[in-house]
Amino acid sequence: MSQPLPEADTLVRHAGLLATLRGPRPRLGAALRDLGAIRDAAVAMRAGRIVFVGPDADLGASVRTTANVIEIDAGGAAVIPGFVDAHTHLAYAGDRDDEIRARLAGASYEEIASQGGGIVRTVTATRAVSREDLTLLVRGRLDRALGLGTTSVEVKSGYGLSLAAEKASLEAITAAAASHPARVVRTYLGAHEIPLDRRADREGYIAEMVTVAIPEIARLRLAEFADVFCERGVFTAEESRRILGAAAAAGLALRIHADEFSDQGGAALAAELGARSADHLIQVSDEGIAAMARAGVVATLMPAASFFLKLGRFAPARKMIDAGVSIALGSDTNPGGGLSASIPFAMTLACFGMGLSVEEALSAATIGGAMSLGLENEVGSIEVGKRADLLILRSDRLLDLVRVGENPVARVLANGRLAA
Ligand code: NIG
Ligand code: FE
Repeated sequence: MSQPLPEADTLVRHAGLLATLRGPRPRLGAALRDLGAIRDAAVAMRAGRIVFVGPDADLGASVRTTANVIEIDAGGAAVIPGFVDAHTHLAYAGDRDDEIRARLAGASYEEIASQGGGIVRTVTATRAVSREDLTLLVRGRLDRALGLGTTSVEVKSGYGLSLAAEKASLEAITAAAASHPARVVRTYLGAHEIPLDRRADREGYIAEMVTVAIPEIARLRLAEFADVFCERGVFTAEESRRILGAAAAAGLALRIHADEFSDQGGAALAAELGARSADHLIQVSDEGIAAMARAGVVATLMPAASFFLKLGRFAPARKMIDAGVSIALGSDTNPGGGLSASIPFAMTLACFGMGLSVEEALSAATIGGAMSLGLENEVGSIEVGKRADLLILRSDRLLDLVRVGENPVARVLANGRLAA
């Protein structure tokens, strides 16, 4: 007896090149260049889930369609998975444009932060807005990211810092995500900085995070991940171990800002604690890379942060790929210099700054991001059973993804619906 054919309510037909990114996960080493491409392909979906992927010629014999099926003709253009932006700080109010101008005039990020600028200024601005207004700000940024092809996005708190303000930020992220086509993953980043009003009581602030804030955030299910800014002048590796240890004990998954401006052993700490991801890694050591490869920690890289902070170097992505580390990309959207929410721009810098091929950058921006967020069975590739998140490009040339200045994405399907 043959199985009944799956039913489809939406079809995307005539993809000149369908980059499925299907196959074993994580994609490591040479597999990053394999896009699992199908020529003249179709994708069928129902109620937001993919039910068929294959040659367009096989579609008729493979699915039944509902009476009011929506059929989208890709016209021979490339179709790729929706982008997964694995690192953003988009829950903030206000701006720090004066700091960006100061950097253009030669000041460094760390100098500005040590002179009272940086994260703590955005904390003041973010605490001053209502949760409803912050929700609107987050939603507007999710909308703009979606228009650029980002269908899954990690969003951190970290500009509230008191327990009440961190909860309000995570509630705003939750509320913005509830009514949004993008898939949002929430990260508690109470350890982004020591707030100004607790500077005289550093130990008290950390102890409160560990014993009160983290258990409460976990109990209220306000976040999937916890993160720490482990950096010279911010949180030490020992403090980071304590905070992330408490987060793991409370049931949160772990990620960490590691080795961005200086090598603090953050990558090795991520490996020791079983973190899902270590992020930035511009100054990571060879030992840190080896530890990440052994422990299966994903390297989430934000080349736009190197670029906008004028750091003069990028994370050693080639070395990490060769060592067998799983790679993801993020935009690092933030008010201090995360000036671009565009994943194609991050891909461009990954290619021209970090030495990746377009295929490797696309893997990192899709299934790599899904691995970084623990969503590898849900998003990041075009496979039966996954969320129907796909992008129809303007042409069949993948190189168009790294031509800066025009949006290479013609249409966005998120959760099986045309979203942009
Ligand atoms: O570069 N976490 C550290 N710094 C952020 C930017 C935060 C800010 O400057 O507001 C980052 O990831
Ligand atoms: Fe960051």
